[in-house]
This record gives sequence, C-alpha cells and structure tokens, in this order.
Amino acid sequence: MPDARQFDLVHDRGLTRIWIGADALDRSRAELSDWVRGRRAFVISSAPVRELHGEWLERELSAASAVTALDVADGEAGKTLDTMGRLAREMVAAGGKRDSRLLTLGGGSVGDVGGFAAACFLRGIEYAHVPTTLLAQVDASIGGKTGVNLPEAKNSVGAFHQPRFVIADARTLSTLPRELIRQGLFEVVKAAILADSALFDLLEVRLRELLEPESESLGSVVEAAAAIKIAVVSADEREADRRRLLNLGHTLGHALETCAGHGALAHGDAVGHGMLFAVELALPRGLRDRDAQRIRALVGRLAPARLPSFDPDSLIRAMSRDKKARETGLSWVLPLRVGAAEVVDDLDPALIGELLASFLTGFVESR
Ligand SMILES: NC(=O)c1ccc[n+]([C@@H]2O[C@H](COP(=O)([O-])OP(=O)(O)OC[C@H]3O[C@@H](n4cnc5c(N)ncnc54)[C@H](O)[C@@H]3O)[C@@H](O)[C@H]2O)c1
Ligand SMILES: [Zn+2]
Repeated sequence: MPDARQFDLVHDRGLTRIWIGADALDRSRAELSDWVRGRRAFVISSAPVRELHGEWLERELSAASAVTALDVADGEAGKTLDTMGRLAREMVAAGGKRDSRLLTLGGGSVGDVGGFAAACFLRGIEYAHVPTTLLAQVDASIGGKTGVNLPEAKNSVGAFHQPRFVIADARTLSTLPRELIRQGLFEVVKAAILADSALFDLLEVRLRELLEPESESLGSVVEAAAAIKIAVVSADEREADRRRLLNLGHTLGHALETCAGHGALAHGDAVGHGMLFAVELALPRGLRDRDAQRIRALVGRLAPARLPSFDPDSLIRAMSRDKKARETGLSWVLPLRVGAAEVVDDLDPALIGELLASFLTGFVESR
C-alpha cells in the first residue's frame, strides 16, 4: 500500500495537518508526541472502538504526562448536551487545563461530540481527530464542524472548531463491517461526481473490490475523496458558497432520513437516492445522458436501500425546514458532468414537485 499523504488545511485560526493512508499514525508520530509532551491527553472514544484501536493510539501518547480515557455512546445516542456536559465535568475532575490536549478516536459521532467538548471546554482547547470509519475519514473529521443533537433537531447545537491534527489511518478501516463501508462509499461517489472524474473512473472499475473487507484499494479512494473535501473547505472555511457543493445528494437525502423516521434509512442510502434525484433535476439543464447513466449505474451498484412510500409534499416541507435551507428558498447541487457540479438556487418549486412525484413512483415501482 502506498504511504500516507499529508495535507495542510489553512483556516482562519491557523493550520490543520492531516495524514491519510496506510501508515498515517506512523507518519504523525513525531508531531503527535511533541504536541502532547508533558500535558494531560484526553482520549474520547466509544467502548467498541477503544477495544479495537485504543491501545494502539495510547502507545503513541507516551510523552503525555497522563492519558485519561473517556467513553461516549456510539451513534446519535452519544451526541447530546448531557454527554458533552459529562465530558466537561470529567475533564475538570481530572485536572484538565487550557493547554491540555484532547483526541477523538472513532466514527463521526464520537468526533462530533468530542470535538464539541474541545470547542467548549475552558472556551476551547486544542484537539485532534483520529477517525476510524470511512465516513469519518472522508468527511466528518475534515472541516471543523462539531456539535450535538437536540431532541427536536439533529446537529442543532455546535461550533466551528478546527482540529490541530487529523490522523486517518487506513489500518483502522480493516475492522469495519461491510455495511459501514458501503454507506461510506456513497460519500466517496459524491466527491467523485463533484470534483474528480478520475476517481469516478476508478470507482467504476474497483467498486466490487472496495466493498470487500480489507480491500487494498480503500486507502487510495479515501485519500482522493478526503482531498476533495480538504480542497473545498480550504477554499471556503465557513460554508459560504463552495462548501455548499458538498451537499450534493443531501437536500433530498436529509428529508428522506427525516421522513423515514429515526434511523430507519441510513445516511449513505439516503444520499444515494438524493444523488439519483439530482441527476433527474440536472438532465433538463443540460447534463448529458451518458453522464447521467454513469452516475445512475455507479450509485445503483451500491444498492441504496429501497425507499418506503413517501408523500412528495411532506418531503418538500422537510427540505424547507432543514437547517441548510435558507429563508430565500431551497438550494440544490446538480451535476454538470461527471467531475463537476453547480449550486442552483432558482429551481421552480412546481417543477421540483412534479419531478419528485415521478421520481418516487418510478423508483418504487422499478424495484
Ligand atoms: N462534522 C461533520 O462535518 C460531519 C460530517 C458528516 C457526518 N457527521 C456525523 O457523523 C456521524 C456518523 O458517523 P459514522 O458514519 O462514522 O457513524 P458512527 O460514529 O455512529 O459509527 C458507526 C459505528 O461504527 C463503529 N466503528 C467505528 N469505527 C470502527 C472500526 N474501525 N471498526 C469497527 N467498527 C467501528 C462504531 O462503534 C459505531 O457502532 C453522524 O452523527 C453525522 O452527523 C459529521
Ligand atoms: Zn453526508
């Protein structure tokens, strides 16, 4: 496997150094040791991930004056204000200071709540992400968004707080169940459609192998997809315009997740359907048939879970309530071709309603 790649993401508070690939942890060793030297390091993880990969990370922290392990529940259950409050109290009890260090070890959920604890504790301490799922490596660990859910709305309390380091070691992915790889690959396909036709070509050739556990190719597609997120975030750290491109498939995807009900439709599957619908919206605007077919075929090979039957109006209402929606209306990310996309704010709501109704019936009937 090729060596890890190093990226520097420059943002308004400085720089995040990111290592991605087969030996990311080895490559980060010297800087990580310097960063924790003589300080307390908090390692926030979940019990299952700590069991799999915790020892390995803790060995790298031997220069710290002390290492305190704090566990949170995986998934949305752990992304709460209560968890954040408990973490902060445990950090005070353990003697945490402004210059203590925090590391998150786990999927996107652990990263979000752990990063939020780092953002809030003593008004913000330095932290590092060590993402261990495909989704966290290509998406959640990059960009500095941290936060928790309220019972009323997902990700509704949070802060921008950029990590000092991201250490995305491909070896941690070897323990992932196949289903989490499949879910994460939807975001990789998204990145390829947005910005990298060579990655799209590679996915077409290698998809079957990528879905196998311990696939040799996973490291290189993770690097390529993460590189796209890094480039977009660097250009536009605070979600003005370019960053909105990352929402390809998510305008409808989030609404599908919401309307399906808590946890009934996985995020990757929802984004898969969202990308298929974006193709329908893009065709009348000039997306070529050949590109539409390639996108449909690749997304189809990831086999997004069958949709329950939805009422188009309730989906449209859910889209307008989404926190990414603006007062001025919905915005859509539409593929221009394989490897390029645009953000469109002026689609006719009647047309969207019509296409959505036929998309939903067409899709449900064809399966
Ligand atoms: N901050 C952001 O920019 C951003 C972006 C996208 C998603 N997210 C958030 O990320 C979360 C989803 O993250 P996720 O998909 O990583 O899921 P997750 O964090 O819920 O983890 C899923 C499961 O994977 C297991 N797991 C983690 N690493 C493993 C490994 N190496 N081997 C075996 N099992 C492992 C965990 O125990 C857990 O059961 C959501 O809460 C979402 O809101 C945040
Ligand atoms: Zn997503």
